[in-house]
Amino acid sequence: MKGVILAGGLGSRLLPCTKITNKHLLPVYDQPMVHYPLRCLASAGIDEIMLVTGGSFAGDFLQLLGNGKEFGLKDLHYTYQEGEGGIADALRLAEDFADGGKIAVILGDNIVEYSIRSAVEAYEAQGSGARILLKTVPDPERFGVPVFEDGRIVRVEEKPSNPLSDFAVTGIYFYDHQVFEMIRDLKPSDRGELEISDVNNMYIERGQLEWSELEGWWTDAGTFPSLLRASQLVAESGANKTT
Ligand code: G1P
Repeated sequence: MKGVILAGGLGSRLLPCTKITNKHLLPVYDQPMVHYPLRCLASAGIDEIMLVTGGSFAGDFLQLLGNGKEFGLKDLHYTYQEGEGGIADALRLAEDFADGGKIAVILGDNIVEYSIRSAVEAYEAQGSGARILLKTVPDPERFGVPVFEDGRIVRVEEKPSNPLSDFAVTGIYFYDHQVFEMIRDLKPSDRGELEISDVNNMYIERGQLEWSELEGWWTDAGTFPSLLRASQLVAESGANKTT
């Protein structure tokens, strides 16, 4: 399975730092943020990766990551997202790279404690459809939140003011080829973006969305409080040392 890292966006929640660099190049403890999702995929056996980025500092990723050999990758590809169209808009750019196969997608600001290998294996065994990874959080209103009926997810609500579960949909997703046709049908949300939660809801409508619960801690790092928390979690657990 190939992997896609989504590292675009303006990083407006981290201004003024993101005036002079891309959000995903900011440090989380002792490593640039993007190292963590890269290692997350590589350590799960995914060694062909496409990085989608954008903005004024896109070239810095090439300087930092090169051809990915340092991370044990077979291939590291890059593409450029114009504008700020959201996560699903960025993913659209990976269609040719995916070449009709299944993909593992991770947001460039998501950091996990443990390997996601078991989720990768569960998805390989699943056949078609999509799989999302969930984690209980104290502040689900900041995230996509699954709504359950009889143990199945009936919909995902994006940043609901009254969350109906205490799970967050983490920024780690597994999709088959259908994802690209679904993205073509998306309409921009109120924040003007093509939402990944809308894609997940389309899989739910087709009865093809499975989920796993992520083991260990998980955090995003796209706001100052979560960036600080990410550095603390990494420093305390030594997650920066795992490959
Ligand atoms: C995005 C997704 C959200 C998901 C989160 C995980 O939110 O829209 O569903 O829970 O990533 O990090 P954003 O970071 O764009 O606010």
